Amino acid sequence: MASVERSIDWFRDAGRPHRDDRALLASVLEGLRQHPKRISPVWFYDERGSCLFDEICELPEYYVTRTELAILQRHLPEMAARIRSHACVIEPGSGTGLKTKLLLEALDRPSAYVPVDVACEHLEAAAARLRSEHPHICVHPVCADFTMPFEVPDTERFARRAIFFPGSTIGNFDRHEAVRLLARLRHLAPGGGMLIGFDMVKPAGVLVPAYDDAAGVTAAFNLNALEHLNRRLGTDFDPAGFRHRAVWNPVASRIEMHLVSTRAQMVRIAGRDIHFAAGETIHTENSYKYTTERFASLAEVAGWKICRCWTDARGFYSLQLLE
Ligand SMILES: C[S@@+](CC[C@H](N)C(=O)[O-])C[C@H]1O[C@@H](n2cnc3c(N)ncnc32)[C@H](O)[C@@H]1O
Repeated sequence: MASVERSIDWFRDAGRPHRDDRALLASVLEGLRQHPKRISPVWFYDERGSCLFDEICELPEYYVTRTELAILQRHLPEMAARIRSHACVIEPGSGTGLKTKLLLEALDRPSAYVPVDVACEHLEAAAARLRSEHPHICVHPVCADFTMPFEVPDTERFARRAIFFPGSTIGNFDRHEAVRLLARLRHLAPGGGMLIGFDMVKPAGVLVPAYDDAAGVTAAFNLNALEHLNRRLGTDFDPAGFRHRAVWNPVASRIEMHLVSTRAQMVRIAGRDIHFAAGETIHTENSYKYTTERFASLAEVAGWKICRCWTDARGFYSLQLLE
């Protein structure tokens, strides 16, 4: 999303320096002045949001993680052989790194692992877990916004790099942003490859419950963005004055998540009052769903060549190796 474009070093967790909260406030304010109002989905991911996302991955309605894990488990030997020995694996938006553990175990002597995430506490905890389970792998966590330039540790300067980009995170970007991101990742791994996962178009009856589960975990995840804003920027959102909404937009081929204001209300941000009418929404996330053809065209425009595709029996999800 457009607002993700700004540097978000200030997403470093409590206790660490916040470099430029004013820039952050300005970008949130700008989004809330648009019609419809919007905020960046990076606001989901403080420590609580990262834990809620892990819970979402276990939900019966959220087929995404289960399906991707099943494809990985079935085809990892072939994927690992194609990635080749001694790779330095870079993972944008690494989260808990459940799938990475499987990939690293399948790879032949990976030289290093560089997880990159805005949720710094969660990132450090996942890196510490991986180090203790696999002490022979050098793990270099990077707390950064992967849509902005970030440094891969100097020690890995000459390593053969492979990007691992699972979780359908690419789906959070519109076509223009996705092309730009994929092109940037290509420059990060010159001569290397990228194993990327994306979600496929399917009936709304399957898609909508995956983003609006019966237990209300996705609702809590969406509403947590307001708590995160309050804590981080001193806004005074009342999460009880909003409710979660997930809709399938067939024209744009995306699930949209919104927070709907349940009443007319005013929210104070950066010394200004932002008015919400009853029923007015904040657009918090898009999750684009692809056909094979549409993803191929995206990858091609970004300068990647598709080498191999793996999918599940229902054609719900695709993992692809790009070079
Ligand atoms: C959908 S989750 C996927 C997590 C994991 N890769 C998986 O497959 O389960 C997205 C992850 O990307 C991180 N993230 C989202 N936007 C980001 C950004 N712009 N820069 C860095 N990390 C980001 C979030 O903190 C979260 O861990």
